[in-house]
Amino acid sequence: MALQLGDTAPDFTAESTAGKISLHDYGSGSWVVLFSHPKDFTPVCTTELGAVAKLKAEFDKRNVKVLGLSVDPLKDHKAWVGDIEETQGCALNFPLLADPDRKVANLYGMIHPNANDTLTVRSVFVIDPNKKIRLTLTYPASTGRNFEELLRVIDSLQLTDKHKVATPVNWRQGDDCIIVPSVSNEQAKEMFPGGWKEHKPYLRVVKQPH
Ligand code: BEZ
Repeated sequence: MALQLGDTAPDFTAESTAGKISLHDYGSGSWVVLFSHPKDFTPVCTTELGAVAKLKAEFDKRNVKVLGLSVDPLKDHKAWVGDIEETQGCALNFPLLADPDRKVANLYGMIHPNANDTLTVRSVFVIDPNKKIRLTLTYPASTGRNFEELLRVIDSLQLTDKHKVATPVNWRQGDDCIIVPSVSNEQAKEMFPGGWKEHKPYLRVVKQPH
């Protein structure tokens, strides 16, 4: 069965552009974004990896480590990284896993045979410091992902963990949040002394906690 939200992220050890990596060690105490791309030396993947490299400081700020993967061998990754820097204006600054035997790709269900039976699709797994999977995404090979959106989701997840608020449609940093339904009004009085606006008993809007 496919990995689901709340599952423990399966551990693995694989070669990468930054040496051998074991997922659980690599992610110890941090969030991890594990994402696959279909193939080295392809245009959309080149733009994606450049974009992630440019966002490294934003991931760092949120205590997130990023980890790319494709089924290409390490020697191809190493030959390709120069192209990423040359064409995207930013050097690769996070590890790219090599998975030529598809060990990790199969473990995480990153190969979708009806799309392509040999290459990984554009999968994303956001894994929290407790090693639980908190988000999964699957995009087709022809569509580059929006990594700013991933940062937005991570902000939302971290707010929920810390302050028991959810985030409404199209929420951005600084916008109002929603008190999660599992928090009673009694508890909310303690947690949100500034109060909230109750549109409905189930829709309680509060300023974003900091
Ligand atoms: C790309 O990265 O450009 C790409 C890879 C596989 C299929 C289509 C596009």
